[in-house]
Parts: sequence; structure tokens; C-alpha cells
Amino acid sequence: MAFYAIPFERGDRILTAEAEYASNYLAYLQLARDRGVSVETIPSTADGEVCVDSLKAMLDDRVRLISITHIPTNGGLVNPVEEIGAVARAHGITYLVDACQSAGQVALDVEAIQCDLLSATGRKFLRGPRGVGFLYVSNRIVESLHPPMIDLFSATWIDAGHYELRKDARRFENWENNYSAKLGLGSAIDYALGIGLDNIEAEVTRLAASLRAMLAEIPAVSVHDIGKRKCGIVSFSVAGVDAGEIETRLRQGGIHVSVSTPNSTLIDATRRHLPEVVRASVHYYNRESELQALVDLVTSICEQSG
Ligand SMILES: Cc1ncc(COP(=O)(O)O)c(C=O)c1O
Repeated sequence: MAFYAIPFERGDRILTAEAEYASNYLAYLQLARDRGVSVETIPSTADGEVCVDSLKAMLDDRVRLISITHIPTNGGLVNPVEEIGAVARAHGITYLVDACQSAGQVALDVEAIQCDLLSATGRKFLRGPRGVGFLYVSNRIVESLHPPMIDLFSATWIDAGHYELRKDARRFENWENNYSAKLGLGSAIDYALGIGLDNIEAEVTRLAASLRAMLAEIPAVSVHDIGKRKCGIVSFSVAGVDAGEIETRLRQGGIHVSVSTPNSTLIDATRRHLPEVVRASVHYYNRESELQALVDLVTSICEQSG
């Protein structure tokens, strides 16, 4: 909703990350089709994150939006959203951060990130309900954003020819909404804050590093995570065994992972020649023994597949 509310003009440029998520990139492409904006990816550093120097080199007065996925869906990467935010702010460019995979696993400070917009979901590392999330909109730009759809919550009907939008970010809300899901999201957020996001990040990062190191020792396994700073998402593939097959076999052993397909992060997956990858997301409640169980099962799948 917030993205579609940005008043783009023909010829405007959207700069985004190589590891951008499909649903975001699809929206950029829709805008390219409908309003003649261009969509360009910022090159990555050798370590794999958005290259801030390359971003600076791409800037001109047609850049209308910098839109970055903080933590991509397909691996361990954490993009340097604060450094990117400093560039966006210095040039007065609208800055949108997709924090779907980061909310609940790393601390998020919109003042430090200097973003104008930040969106997140409840259903990932916050471990909240599905179908609910949150959007942050800075007071700097909120009044310049006209939501693509409005109702009597986001606006007030003044007279036969006029309405007035709410002044705050709640102009993006609807009258009708799922109260139980919102209460669940609130509980999940309180739970995470009670443990402390710094504590959560430290444990998640430690466990993920440990899992990566153990998986990397299995000869048939390739670990695909990139980035100087890494998160709790561990992605890997096994030579000769499809990711879907690994997912099924792990599930039979009581271990839940998911599969990231190349078309969910098409530009990054094409650039790195990624196959479908198994995505194991550790959380702070996991134990080393559980990581070991995952590694043992993957090892035995490798042995059975010859
Ligand atoms: C980076 C990223 N953004 C957004 C989403 C989608 O979130 P939602 O469908 O809740 O908007 C995902 C889901 O995998 C994601 O990985």
C-alpha cells in the first residue's frame, strides 16, 4: 500500500538490491509498466551485500526510491540498511526497507536506519499469526503519500465533493481488520521484546554459524549463504538430491525446513546460479543437539543417495 502511494512520475528510477524478494520486484515491474519508471539493481560487494559505493555512483535526480530487502528470503545475508539509509537521507530520496525476515531476529531501529517506510510480517521470526504485519511510515513523508485505496477509517467524508485523509500512518489502515490476528501479533512482539532483540540476535547468529560450519563439513553439501554480516537463515543444497526431497525427509524426522526457489529471488539466484535451496531457519530456542540431528539426517540422506 505504501509503495503504491509514492507519487512516481514517468522516468523516475527505483534502485533496489540484487537479492530482492519476488513480491517486491513484481510491484516495481507493475509500476514500470503503468507509470514508466525504471527498475535497477545496485551491484553487490564481493561479500554479497548491497555495495554502498555502487549505490552512490548510481544516484541522480531521477532516483525516486531506494527499496531494499533487509534480510533476503534465500540465505544468510543481512544488508547494510543503516549505511544505505545515510545515503538516502543525505540525498533526500525516499527509502523503503522490507524487514519481513528481520523483524523478530534482529533489532530494528527506524531512526538508525533512517528509512521512510518499513514493512514487516508477524509470521516469520516473530512467530506470530499469519496474515498480519506492520508498516512504519515516517512523519517526514506520510502526508505526501496518498493510499491507493481508502475507506472511512483512513479518511473522513467532508461534503459531497471532498474527503480528508488522516494525518498519520494509520491512513494505510482499513476500517475492517482481523482483531484476533492483531492481538496475536502484539503478543508475539511483547514476547520478543521481553527476551530482548539483542539477546535473540546473538543466539540466532551463534546457532546459525554453528549449523553452517557443521553442514559445510558434509562433502555433498554446499552452503549458499553470503554477506559480511549473517543472520539465522541457513541455506544449502545437496549434490544429487532435490531440495524438496531433503525437506520431505527432514520433516519425516521431525525437522521443519523450507525450500527457496530461484524465482523468489530471481536476480540473485541467476547471478549465483543457485538451485532450489533448503532453508533452515534457526531460532533462539533451538539447541545444539537439534542442529546435530539435522546434520546427522542430511549426512544419512547423502550416504543413501550414494
Ligand atoms: C524478504 C521478504 N519480504 C516479504 C515476504 C512476504 O511477506 P508477506 O507475504 O507477509 O508480505 C517474504 C516472505 O518470504 C520475504 O522473504
